[in-house]
Amino acid sequence: MSGKCVVASGRDFQLADPEAFRSTARAVVDYARRLSPAFAKISSLARLQVIADGGDIGAAKDQHTAVCALLDCLKQASSQEPTGPDEYLFVGKCSEYDRYIDKFAVRQGANSRIEWANDAVRSNDNAVLAQAIDEIVSHMRAFGEPAQHYQGFAAYAQARLDALLPPEIMEVHQETNLALVVPMFEKSLSVPGDAAEFGCFRGALAVKLAWMMKAAGAPKHYYAFDTFQASEIDDPVGSGDGLLGAGAFRDNADAYDALTKWSRLLPLTPIKGDPPKTCSVLTKPLSFVWLDLERDVLMDPVLRHIWPLCSSDTIIGIDDAGRPENPTVGPWLDQLVATGALELVLDSNAFVPGVFVRFLKKKKVDFPTGLVGAWRSQLRQQKGHSRVTR
Ligand SMILES: C[S@@+](CC[C@H](N)C(=O)[O-])C[C@H]1O[C@@H](n2cnc3c(N)ncnc32)[C@H](O)[C@@H]1O
Repeated sequence: MSGKCVVASGRDFQLADPEAFRSTARAVVDYARRLSPAFAKISSLARLQVIADGGDIGAAKDQHTAVCALLDCLKQASSQEPTGPDEYLFVGKCSEYDRYIDKFAVRQGANSRIEWANDAVRSNDNAVLAQAIDEIVSHMRAFGEPAQHYQGFAAYAQARLDALLPPEIMEVHQETNLALVVPMFEKSLSVPGDAAEFGCFRGALAVKLAWMMKAAGAPKHYYAFDTFQASEIDDPVGSGDGLLGAGAFRDNADAYDALTKWSRLLPLTPIKGDPPKTCSVLTKPLSFVWLDLERDVLMDPVLRHIWPLCSSDTIIGIDDAGRPENPTVGPWLDQLVATGALELVLDSNAFVPGVFVRFLKKKKVDFPTGLVGAWRSQLRQQKGHSRVTR
């Protein structure tokens, strides 16, 4: 046996290992059914279901249409809206593989993919094309195994960014972990209102998300807040490691000018100054908020000000909650959840260590007071506890 599942025979795809293809069909059907009732009814999926159930694929023509049905499922799944972490992985991978085959087909001088099922595959080298498809068939088979949630988000985010952003934008590095931010940002595009990022540093995340906003045709604007000068206050817990001391994030002085240039092309406005003060420029509803200011004393007044602009559908993302280098953020946020002001939607800790991202939604109308400095009592409690347990 060649070890391959899909091979080329003249102008058709054939199956060297029909049983392996059956397992792929089974895995794809299982996942695809979770996406939407409408998607579950598409004819290509029905074809895969027959194969998954042990239907006959002995004839050459049946094998060819089976492979084309799988390729069609990849294409159609790419435009589905994922419903949960596993589905993010599935849609992300379908989208990635679909675009890969599209590009590969062009490189091989192939006729349009639409013609493959009913007519024939005509390319410079059908065997090479079949080999690329064979690899995808074996990757898709892995969906029969339990998926990793975080991988799901990461793959989905990567696929969406690759699909929407030009490579030169993708190359610009941001501090923020995109795996969780991108899917949550996409969800917010259907909520009325603008987006605001507080603590945008060099603006790399701002440019990427504003680009996505524009590519989606969403009637929204992205506001990017920063001092564009480096941190102005010292580390409140005095760790003395320089990580968060005054002067941290120093090298973003040119970012304001760069973002101002981007604002001619994108629905993006940089706002220079101290975010707890400058956030007062926002007066309209918000659909997405990314708070990345490192400390409770900065985040609290900002969130308090924008609170009336947020609805129960606004997606509020907070970075560094629980990160040891940012000890004030986690306890402050814990209090916001404990008082019932915010409701946790997604906590990166639940499925991946070391990311420290939380997404929340507003639950209560009133913003609670006195939460800044919650870390002090938590620290005291921890010290007391360690004395008792020692
Ligand atoms: C972790 S960085 C943000 C990273 C950015 N969101 C990204 O994805 O690349 C934190 C930012 O908070 C900013 N910041 C804004 N206002 C500040 C203030 N008043 N004091 C200290 N830092 C402030 C810093 O300038 C820095 O750019």
